[in-house]
Amino acid sequence: MKLLDGIKLSNEIKIDIKRQVQALKKHDITPGLAVIIVGDDTASMTYVNMKSKACDTVGIYSIVHKMPANINEQKIIDTINMMNNNDNIDGILVQLPLPNNIDESKVIQAINPQKDVDGFHPFNIGSISLKLDGFIPATPYGVIKLLKQYKIELKGKNVCIVGASNIVGKPLMSLFLNEYATVQICHIYTKNLKQHTLNADILCVAVGKINLITSDMIKEDVIVVDIGINKNEQGKLVGDVDFDDVSKKCEYISPVPGGVGPMTIAMLLDNTIKSAKKRKKDE
Ligand code: GUN
Repeated sequence: MKLLDGIKLSNEIKIDIKRQVQALKKHDITPGLAVIIVGDDTASMTYVNMKSKACDTVGIYSIVHKMPANINEQKIIDTINMMNNNDNIDGILVQLPLPNNIDESKVIQAINPQKDVDGFHPFNIGSISLKLDGFIPATPYGVIKLLKQYKIELKGKNVCIVGASNIVGKPLMSLFLNEYATVQICHIYTKNLKQHTLNADILCVAVGKINLITSDMIKEDVIVVDIGINKNEQGKLVGDVDFDDVSKKCEYISPVPGGVGPMTIAMLLDNTIKSAKKRKKDE
């Protein structure tokens, strides 16, 4: 078994991004990211803090708009519009999930697709499914980067994705399809999950369920990408895959922590730089 090391690769990407930020600053452009967080969900706060810290590390300006859970939807949309019209802001990100009383899709659609560095706007989701240029959601983007870094062939491979969310499973399906893999996507209503996972050359799991995948559910020498983030009873961060069990049988596995998580942040920075470079072209 070999590890898919997301810490090493994300550090390399961040060094390259820092260099690109310095080059942009020579043209008087400081890339800027605006983050909106609603409510005080602890996990969301942690992610937002990690994102702003990563921006600081590479020299991207970031601003966090923190709003109370009971705020009305229009106020969030007004803030988004303000950021849409702010020339110093290249990327806008609304941390999900939003409180239940807020229409998530209405909020996401208020973001200018040219600043949607999370890649959640229907315009960007549509763009990736058509293999057009657009922002790719950071987590699926990070998964593909990680596999490519280890020179793992995707063309013609049987890929099984467990989890069909709008922000991970569905865009990841498009990205694999764009690489000519054969993709199977499983979800909560899938019957006999094991029958599908056993067929996979590459298995990606993004469900949020500890130990969902065990060694009896995979074939020998499979590549396993664990996208789950859970806290176990001891408060330790773990994925969706029973790591000790599965790692004895697979060829590659991404650990949690240290696999896809750091890649997600690196790819968000990469999207922000991509947007800032468009600002340079537009000048
Ligand atoms: N919630 C869980 N993952 C993400 C993400 O990648 N972006 C945002 N905005 N919210 C999330």
